[in-house]
Amino acid sequence: MTDESLPPRTAAVIPAAGRGVRLGPGAPKALRTLNGTPMLLHAVRAMAASRAVSLVVVVAPPDDTQGVKNLLTEFAPPERTDIVVVPGGESRQESVRLGLDALPDGIEVVLVHDAARPLVPVDTVDSVIEAVRDGAPAVVPALPLADTVKEVEPREKGEPERVLATPERSRLRAVQTPQGFQRATLVRAHHTEEARGDGATDCAGMVERLGVPVVVVPGHEEAFKVTRPLDLVLAEAVLARRRANDGF
Ligand code: CTP
Ligand code: MG
Repeated sequence: MTDESLPPRTAAVIPAAGRGVRLGPGAPKALRTLNGTPMLLHAVRAMAASRAVSLVVVVAPPDDTQGVKNLLTEFAPPERTDIVVVPGGESRQESVRLGLDALPDGIEVVLVHDAARPLVPVDTVDSVIEAVRDGAPAVVPALPLADTVKEVEPREKGEPERVLATPERSRLRAVQTPQGFQRATLVRAHHTEEARGDGATDCAGMVERLGVPVVVVPGHEEAFKVTRPLDLVLAEAVLARRRANDGF
């Protein structure tokens, strides 16, 4: 078999270096537990569950990189999957770039997946990878919105805000992770000044600024981001439902 006949090698970068300010006081968010297991471990498992993923790069809180390494030695990944841990940075964008810097030669497809989305189903991961392998340079999983969205003139917290516009809801999507990329495209975005500027809250947004097309594939409601305390309740309920269903 020649190299060209093999599928492109795929890695997942997991930014996990955030503090989780909105979740309230406690350990860094990625190390907070869901039914006893740190969120990060759930997220690593979710990536390693895809047969296509041969490497997982975990971007750890810089002051607890060793703790994350210790945690991951307790997890036996499938034989096909390597795990690397690197210290993260001040912003998500910087943490992702530090993760990309750790990728070895030979990786051609990169997923970026928030540690804060621990419960993404493997089918969602696989459909993102498949769309990249089919030729899309950038792919994001997303869902239609339940709420109507208003654009406002932002004011101090609690002050009434003037509504500027109401985008047509049926044209909006709430995006999730893993987002998938041709490696070269994502690396270029992270090294291009205009793509890195203010307001790019996800990797796909950076790639859009390069003028590269980004496509959306269906996301999953279980890929929601754990952001506020109520999300922990929901995540534990999802795990309990999975366990109950596995029993049948
Ligand atoms: N992240 C990171 N490095 C940072 C900031 C965020 O790797 N300097 C990661 C988080 O660990 C998380 C993902 O980016 O997995 C999405 O960020 P978010 O949900 O905002 O997490 P936090 O920044 O930790 O939460 P908060 O904004 O409430 O502090
Ligand atoms: Mg944040």
